[in-house]
Amino acid sequence: MPSLTVMLPAERIQARIHELAAEIDRDYPEGPVYLVGILKGACFFLADLARAMKTPARLEFVGISSYGRGTTSSGEVRLTKDLDASVEGYDVIVVEDIVDSGITLSYLIQVFQQRRPRSLRVATLLDKPDRRQRPVKVDYVGFQIPDKFVVGYGLDYAENYRNLPDICVLSE
Ligand code: IMP
Ligand code: MG
Repeated sequence: MPSLTVMLPAERIQARIHELAAEIDRDYPEGPVYLVGILKGACFFLADLARAMKTPARLEFVGISSYGRGTTSSGEVRLTKDLDASVEGYDVIVVEDIVDSGITLSYLIQVFQQRRPRSLRVATLLDKPDRRQRPVKVDYVGFQIPDKFVVGYGLDYAENYRNLPDICVLSE
């Protein structure tokens, strides 16, 4: 039986998101900023971050194929849904749920650079620095966490657990 242990309760997540939003407001006083969420894991983070910001934001989403059903990266990334709008000349913040090996993000940064934004930054709710295989510069980090597999608040294991309000460690 898999067991779930709360690592980050919902209230802590919300408090940290408000701090990140205040940082983003300071960095982009004018707007609009394109927040580009990576489906599906970043959906709740993006929704809460966008509403905590005062700077006007536009929302975009991209889909990628990543882990499939396992808990380790296949090392292969594919865009399954592209941006709907052109972000050329705009400030863009890529919004991720978690940076693990860095493979997904380094691929996406390369893709978005080709779309000629005015600026490109990355916000991630969670960062597992111990597991990095590709160096990536992350500008806004919610929480650095140890090398544990976590679910909830958008994060899944084989598509389950995304709607848990807390972020929990999943162990078999
Ligand atoms: P990376 O390419 O290895 O950095 O992996 C990034 C993606 O892997 C994230 O967007 C998640 O979908 C998934 N991932 C990495 N670690 C976890 C975890 O602990 N729980 C759930 N998904 C994870
Ligand atoms: Mg996933």
